Amino acid sequence: MIPVCPLRSLPRGEAFRLDAEPPIAVFHTEDGEIYAIDDTCTHQDASLADGWLEGCEVECPLHASRFDLRTGKVDSPPAKLPVRTHTVVVEDDTIYVIPSQEPQP
Ligand code: FES
Repeated sequence: MIPVCPLRSLPRGEAFRLDAEPPIAVFHTEDGEIYAIDDTCTHQDASLADGWLEGCEVECPLHASRFDLRTGKVDSPPAKLPVRTHTVVVEDDTIYVIPSQEPQP
């Protein structure tokens, strides 16, 4: 379990780039849910933590592919491959991520 940051450091609507290997993007949605996905877009080399969060989707800042934060699936091209999702745990007001054991697509 990797500590990300205190819960209060990640307000709703914000994202945090966790410098793991590979990097992980953690999002706090406007609805109060927290999701973690691979940070690097599967189309080219863009950080999804720098993208635009809308509902349960993030839009890549480079070519506007959209990924569903709940499943990692692509909702809008040009990306074709999904990103991996990671388990989020909030304990004692701290956000943790349990990285997926799945291979990267
Ligand atoms: S780099 Fe993300 S859509 Fe192109």
